[in-house]
Amino acid sequence: MAGEAVKSVRRLPKDEPGIVDARWLPDDEFKNSWGSIFLPNDEKERLARSAASGIVLRAQIDFEKLPLHGIVLLLGDPGVGKTTLARGLADRLARILKSLGGFAYVEISSHGLTSAFLGRTQRAVETLFSQTIDELAETGPLVLLVDEIETLATDRSRMSFETNPADVHRAVDAALVGLDRLARRHRDVVIIATSNFPDAIDSALRSRADFVYTLPRPGAVARRAILSDTIAALAAKFPKVAGLDRPATLKNAVAASAGMDGRQLRKAVAAACAMRDETATDPNLLTESDLIQAIKLLNTSS
Ligand SMILES: Nc1ncnc2c1ncn2[C@@H]1O[C@H](COP(=O)(O)OP(=O)(O)O)[C@@H](O)[C@H]1O
Ligand SMILES: [Mg+2]
Repeated sequence: MAGEAVKSVRRLPKDEPGIVDARWLPDDEFKNSWGSIFLPNDEKERLARSAASGIVLRAQIDFEKLPLHGIVLLLGDPGVGKTTLARGLADRLARILKSLGGFAYVEISSHGLTSAFLGRTQRAVETLFSQTIDELAETGPLVLLVDEIETLATDRSRMSFETNPADVHRAVDAALVGLDRLARRHRDVVIIATSNFPDAIDSALRSRADFVYTLPRPGAVARRAILSDTIAALAAKFPKVAGLDRPATLKNAVAASAGMDGRQLRKAVAAACAMRDETATDPNLLTESDLIQAIKLLNTSS
């Protein structure tokens, strides 16, 4: 297979400052990430289709006619599934566009970039983008995840030189220039950026995004799906837990969990196990009452 041949000469960056993960796509772990996020309507697939069609269009149409940068921004409160969705999207994209061969995946730590390079010059950040990542992009399709980008792309106009040393300022500039250059130079690079603080995102970056999606807090339908999915995961090891996955129980759990995010919901199922001594050692003994109590305990929004 052509993709395999390319893969053998492409090299993933290992142990480079600022890079927290690098792997080939498709990847089964990321496929599970995709499957574990529940969003309203067809929004998840629409996101995947728009990222995929972006690559197809960028390969054929001049940038001046169709200014697509290949940047996807995922916004929303903490715990609504941004990081999980971003990893899943990377995998989904590689599967939709499998005719392009294997995708490389690189995840950059925004915190890591500013701390790892603090005290060095912006040169180190430039090297990361203009050499390490650029070389990888040169040889084939790439998805780059910049998680919690607000820590990197802090609105420069708000930056005070008293609280932010000039080298941080320069590092941020270098990173933004690096992302921009990467997006312009390579038509088969997709940059996925996530943020909890949309207001803190550099406006230049925001205006370049082809697709901005704000993940909602899960509504009743999504809460039901998340609870059911988490119960099923427990039931795979503790079969009697499956008894909780019935309409009446789910209905009560959904009602008690209004306002909670996806992370809190999944944790509530774990917390249910901790409601009694018996259930702590044998989750098979979990009851609806344990679950509802745990949800009420964790639901700070009600
Ligand atoms: N809409 C959702 N559907 C299913 N699971 C969700 C959803 N939102 C959050 N989760 C779960 O909550 C946990 C935290 O998600 P994460 O991606 O880290 O959120 P964020 O990056 O927005 O803080 C994960 O286990 C994820 O599967
Ligand atoms: Mg996250």
